[in-house]
Amino acid sequence: MIAVYPGSFDPVTSGHYDVIVRAAGMFERLTVLVAGNSSKSPLFSSEERAGLVRQACADLENVSVEILPPTLLVEYVVGHGAKVIVKGLRAVSDFEYEFQMALLNRHLQPGVETIFLMTAAEHAYLSSSIVKEIARLGGDIHGLVPEPVRVALAAKFDQEQAKK
Ligand code: PNS
Repeated sequence: MIAVYPGSFDPVTSGHYDVIVRAAGMFERLTVLVAGNSSKSPLFSSEERAGLVRQACADLENVSVEILPPTLLVEYVVGHGAKVIVKGLRAVSDFEYEFQMALLNRHLQPGVETIFLMTAAEHAYLSSSIVKEIARLGGDIHGLVPEPVRVALAAKFDQEQAKK
């Protein structure tokens, strides 16, 4: 069975990576789907975000990484021959938004199920936004993100500094 793990991944964190590894162990194939989120203006382009997920997941044989074209997630999932959407849940605060999306996705495409994996406790406090803030302010993000992401964030913020 194929599962799809969608998200903004701007950038992929160690919390996302943990969900990817666990989901990859549950399904024959896992597609990590990098999607734009219309309410956020991303730091990395879709191609950069997908490239970073690819580097982080290079050792995971049944994981592939794609970019969501301008279409609904459930349309992509069905077109991809998948029936399951995987999402990670960190805390109660994630629940309402995730519940809304899961119910709307089921309304749009009743044949597709959303399953939730609880985050590993050590990643419960992590988010892409907070990691970007720490990196922007020069803090240490070792361990909070896969190593290629740490390097890419450092390069991004070095470029920003150089422009000032
Ligand atoms: O990492 P995020 O920002 O929580 O991911 C949100 C994402 C990309 C999964 C969501 O915005 C999404 O599914 N976008 C694709 C467009 C779509 O199908 N929207 C309707 C969802 S009910």
